[in-house]
Amino acid sequence: MTELSFAGKTVLVTGGAGFVGSNLVGRVARAGGKVIVLDDLCSGTLDNLDNDIEYEFIEGSVTDSALVTDLIKRADFVAHLAARNIVVSTKNPRDDYEVNIGGTLNVLMAAREHPVERIVYTSSASVYGNPRIIPILEDERPHTFSPYAVSKLAGENYCYAFYETYHLPVASVRYSNVYGPKQSPTNPYCGVIAKFMDSISRGEHPSVHGDGQQTRDFTYVDDAVEATLTALLSPKSEGGVYNIGTGTETKVLELVHIIARLLGREVIPEHIDRRDIDNIRRRVVSIERIRTQLRWQPTVTLEEGLRRTVDWFLQTHR
Ligand SMILES: NC(=O)c1ccc[n+]([C@@H]2O[C@H](COP(=O)([O-])OP(=O)(O)OC[C@H]3O[C@@H](n4cnc5c(N)ncnc54)[C@H](O)[C@@H]3O)[C@@H](O)[C@H]2O)c1
Repeated sequence: MTELSFAGKTVLVTGGAGFVGSNLVGRVARAGGKVIVLDDLCSGTLDNLDNDIEYEFIEGSVTDSALVTDLIKRADFVAHLAARNIVVSTKNPRDDYEVNIGGTLNVLMAAREHPVERIVYTSSASVYGNPRIIPILEDERPHTFSPYAVSKLAGENYCYAFYETYHLPVASVRYSNVYGPKQSPTNPYCGVIAKFMDSISRGEHPSVHGDGQQTRDFTYVDDAVEATLTALLSPKSEGGVYNIGTGTETKVLELVHIIARLLGREVIPEHIDRRDIDNIRRRVVSIERIRTQLRWQPTVTLEEGLRRTVDWFLQTHR
């Protein structure tokens, strides 16, 4: 892996006030880049953005094509993270369609008119649904169980179509359950970790959906950010789709026990009904493609990532 540098470059980060976006903004600014954040603050907050970095903040929506075009004119790179999340999208599929698909189309059309060096679109492992084979390869047939999975996949398809048709330099990354500092307990992807920390630290029994034997591939946010920026800087990523995860499958119940141990507590999880928005039993992604093509691999173990997240949680929630 090479040291990332954005010296002399301007990076537009849509959704930069969100959980992953704000971590990415910090990393780009520290790697010498000038950052423009576009966010409508629907699930993000300015509190997520570090005080010790410089960035320009524009409050607005990716659905505003004139605004997106104005900002892309000034950018060398675009990290496109703005999206309605799975919970919001399940409640209001039209809004999800307008933001996740329409907003992505706005970014691509603006970049076609005003060329940039590269764009990375952040998709999701939710596009796989219940996969046939584990670990999941990028070529696995998508199985879109939710309106959110439909819109994230549509965004990817638009990226690929713009790459093929107009030679737009764009890549897609599929995140698998990203967790870490700045994640709100309401963040549906991995808010479960923040929720477990919250309830366990109060001495309450954490609520586990179903039997807790469901598995996920939990990715520490710094790793997800590094992988995204590696794709952003690499010409080889253009036209590609890459899983971002760890390749390690973890049971939700195991996660509860690690968090409890790190917080020095004993726990008896309380099993509650399965969630209706994410009925996926097993998920772990293969990261061979990004490892071999872009030379990226995760560096933070689950134990270490959870320890850092617990430290952040204790500092900010006391
Ligand atoms: N966190 C995960 O585990 C995970 C997993 C798979 C995919 N993703 C994808 O990664 C990206 C970032 O996710 P996150 O976890 O940081 O979520 P998040 O909700 O914290 O961040 C999304 C950001 O986009 C902003 N936003 C939403 N609609 C917007 C609009 N119309 N215009 C401008 N900004 C808008 C929100 O205010 C928020 O700041 C999203 O595209 C998401 O689909 C995340």
